[in-house]
Amino acid sequence: MSKNFYITTPIYYPSGKPHMGHAYSSIVADIFARFKRLESYNVLFLTGTDEHGQKIQKEAEKNKKDPKIFCDELSETFRLLTKSLNLSNDDFIRTTEKRHHLSVIEIWNRLVNSGDIYLDKYSGWYSVSDEAFYDEDEIEDKNDGKISKSSGSAVEWVEEESYFFKLSSWSKKLLEFYKKNPNFILPLSRRNEVIKFVEKGLKDLSISRTSFTWGIPVPKNENHIIYVWLDALTNYISALNFPNTHDKKYKDFWPADVHVIGKDILRFHAVFWPAFLLAAKLPVPKKVFGHGWILSDEKKMSKSLGNILDPLEIIEKYGIDQLRYYLVKEVSLGNDGSISLENLKNCVNNDLANNYGNLCQRVFSFIKKNCDNKIPFSTKLDNIDKKLLNNLKDSLPKLISLMNNQELNEYIKKVVSFSFDANKYFNDSEPWAVKKNDPERMNAILFTIVEQIKNISILLNPIIPNATNKVLTMINLPVENIKIDTIKDDNILNNQKEIGNLEILFNKIEDDN
Ligand code: ME8
Ligand code: MG
Repeated sequence: MSKNFYITTPIYYPSGKPHMGHAYSSIVADIFARFKRLESYNVLFLTGTDEHGQKIQKEAEKNKKDPKIFCDELSETFRLLTKSLNLSNDDFIRTTEKRHHLSVIEIWNRLVNSGDIYLDKYSGWYSVSDEAFYDEDEIEDKNDGKISKSSGSAVEWVEEESYFFKLSSWSKKLLEFYKKNPNFILPLSRRNEVIKFVEKGLKDLSISRTSFTWGIPVPKNENHIIYVWLDALTNYISALNFPNTHDKKYKDFWPADVHVIGKDILRFHAVFWPAFLLAAKLPVPKKVFGHGWILSDEKKMSKSLGNILDPLEIIEKYGIDQLRYYLVKEVSLGNDGSISLENLKNCVNNDLANNYGNLCQRVFSFIKKNCDNKIPFSTKLDNIDKKLLNNLKDSLPKLISLMNNQELNEYIKKVVSFSFDANKYFNDSEPWAVKKNDPERMNAILFTIVEQIKNISILLNPIIPNATNKVLTMINLPVENIKIDTIKDDNILNNQKEIGNLEILFNKIEDDN
């Protein structure tokens, strides 16, 4: 039986240019998706665009465009971003699609039928840019207006007729759910933050608006537009052909294994979403992982500060593997992290160009020159050879568990250390010195080091897929069939067939670049 794994990113507001925060959220999820495929899981990885609501309507008006046309254009920009980031997403959902509309209506009707929705009047603070309601104690004065303490975005006073979701009646059930599922919210600091918020007692949630039109109308009362977060969160099941709960996709993939999100949207995913699902009598996802914030030189990236690193510019100039690797190596997953061009260059040079890239280059050019371009075979490994290989193989269970617990930084640290050790092994073993007098020894060294390059390449594959696929293809391994288990298979290298040409994997970035 195949094991299924469903992982999602947030669906992006198509309200402007994609930025590094978007890139980061997506890359992190992509790495986990790719790793699960290497573990032989049947993976569904979803991303897309969140196109309804006041924020998008306003943005379209500002651009003097019909909101649907505006969304068509910007959604396409985000779809292209998934290509530039080399995401392996299996689907790209837009909340303006019919499949999503059906699913939102069904959720709404389920909440009506369960008695969780009532009509009343809302008065309170609303941030259009966050699409979020805030309590009095969550806002503060700034200049002549008021802003949200947590996000810093402007809030305005809203008073209108609104449907409410009886969130207050779910506090206890949510707390029980968190208790029973200690890994539902990770990392732990975020879990504590959520529990504290729910323990304060939840207020009923306004889930419709009447002051604009861009969204999904409430069934039987079309003056009301369904709150964009109730709409957006539902995307995760729309993509599984909900409301058809007998559909294979829904049955295989719901509940989701993990929603990867940024910490700013934790409340929506860890409080509102499970409450909606419980009320709709649907299973709740297994995990919500809230990553931290990408900062630039300790500050939030912003246009006015001029410290924006544009993901597409970085990719164009330095390459996508370089950006992927740098972001997840530099930022400790779960915490905020600063990024800078200076550090990107150092990281690419040290870890990719000088370490992994250089190792491949040296080993394969040696084989080309000295072994008729074929990987030598050997059964006469010394202890030092076996030690190098076993060190990595023995770490596999640990590495797998690190990835499954989203301890990405620890994982990378370990893999980089293998690459460092492999370089040192190649230097110390000096195959060039034994070539004449002990070709058997030379063969054992080369067999060992190529085997180790294969294994390191597999482990790095989810993070830097382009470069590692080049290496694996060059040594005649079909990349479609590569799994984590391929690491255990030390008889898989073809010793008869010539290896391919290896281009430079990572150019060193010079100072003036
Ligand atoms: O929130 N650092 O969309 P979005 C790290 N449509 N992550 C960042 C970031 C930064 N500087 N800036 C943004 C939405 N993000 C909703 C989601 S899901 C049903 C609906 C992350 O385009 C942010 O935390 O504003 C979120 O995970 C993602 O980018 C999309 O943000
Ligand atoms: Mg946002």
